Amino acid sequence: MHSSVQVNEPKTPAFVYIIASLSALGGFLFGYDTGVISGALLFIKGAFNLVTFEQEVAVAILLLFAAFAAPFAGKLADAIGRRRTILIAAALFIIGALFMTGAPGFGLFVAGRAVVGLAIGISSFTVPLYISELSPPTIRGLCVSLNQLMVTVGIVVAYIVDLSFAEILSGWRWMLGLSIIPAAILFIAMWFLPETPRWLAKNNHLEQARAIFKKIGNSDKDFDGLVVALEENLRVEKGGLRELFSHRLRRPLMIGMLLAFFQQVTGINTIIYYSPIIFQQVGLDSAVAALWATSSVGVINVLSTLLALWLLDRIGRRPLLIWGISSMIIGLLALGIDWLAPAGEERAIVAIASLMVYIFGFAIGLGPIAWLFIAEIYPLKVRGIAMSCATMVNWGFNFLIALTFLTLIELMGASWTFWLYGLLSLFSLIFVIFWIPETKGKTLEEIERLW
Ligand code: BGC
Repeated sequence: MHSSVQVNEPKTPAFVYIIASLSALGGFLFGYDTGVISGALLFIKGAFNLVTFEQEVAVAILLLFAAFAAPFAGKLADAIGRRRTILIAAALFIIGALFMTGAPGFGLFVAGRAVVGLAIGISSFTVPLYISELSPPTIRGLCVSLNQLMVTVGIVVAYIVDLSFAEILSGWRWMLGLSIIPAAILFIAMWFLPETPRWLAKNNHLEQARAIFKKIGNSDKDFDGLVVALEENLRVEKGGLRELFSHRLRRPLMIGMLLAFFQQVTGINTIIYYSPIIFQQVGLDSAVAALWATSSVGVINVLSTLLALWLLDRIGRRPLLIWGISSMIIGLLALGIDWLAPAGEERAIVAIASLMVYIFGFAIGLGPIAWLFIAEIYPLKVRGIAMSCATMVNWGFNFLIALTFLTLIELMGASWTFWLYGLLSLFSLIFVIFWIPETKGKTLEEIERLW
């Protein structure tokens, strides 16, 4: 596995960054819509007189529909193109938000959450896929992970919006309705942004593909090289499900699905969805203090993701994953030990510190890299469908962890629950060390030849 950076890489045009930043609004909506519900739920509960089960439905229906949407969206992205698929997701984000914000009763509210779930299931992998096919290999890590950065920003903005509208009558309608603005911008932007040259070339629109490939900083000669590499790869690939489950692609398929699995079962969303509860239990008795602590965890998530963006194309994916997961293990171990101490200020401080160490590790490693990896490791012919399999695993386990966390704490206590996530993190570390190849600096066509 030799590392090969394109030699004739010209200066990256601003257009590439514009494409990546605008389409990453899909990531913002992913973060916003998954983060906003924790605060909004407090008010929706009162507005619709919800019992506990109905509250769980309000939260979890989105995750379930995201998992359902993923496999269909993969076929869609391969059939009608990445750009049109993101357009559909943007439209669904708008429709879902309209339903939720205007819902006269709980039924329509849940329908809106489900529609947003479909949108997230589609956009969570189509946006990284779209960006990865449009960025030069030397900065692909940075560009694709802009999406993850926007996920983390979306989560923090959602917390802030929740706090700001908490005192306003029917403030929850604003909390949910405001997402229409970024969704509309995404829709308009995708209307004008180009399809990826790789999808176009694969579908025989060579002249269009050439024009776009040149617009993103390549020469005619580079394009001819791309076409040769694509043709060579496409000759050995048949495409479709049979190809995906063939012996040759078993390894990348497993790697993608296992990364998606480990990203979730190492417990990130217990922190994203439940940290106010965690902080209250360790001794921050006022709700405001707990919300502040939660927001600071969100901010560390954003800042550490920024650091990852800077490092991904410099030191590579593997070292970041290894350091990141090690840091998560230390954080979880410390959190479990801390829980054994009597409640009080000291315990709360250690809990906040442990969570920061954990979230830092996630944000430099599994957070961005799980999505980046599945956007770059699959051969073109099966890229959409393969990514959607990994995405389905991701949302499926997101759903499962969200649903079981509080029950696990009741059954085996908080310390053992966090140690369980720690053990799963240890397994993920072993998996990374022995299974994950380095993809830094390689073109997508070169990565295809690894398998
Ligand atoms: C994960 C989400 C998580 C978020 C937190 C994403 O990469 O897929 O489940 O909530 O990171 O930053």
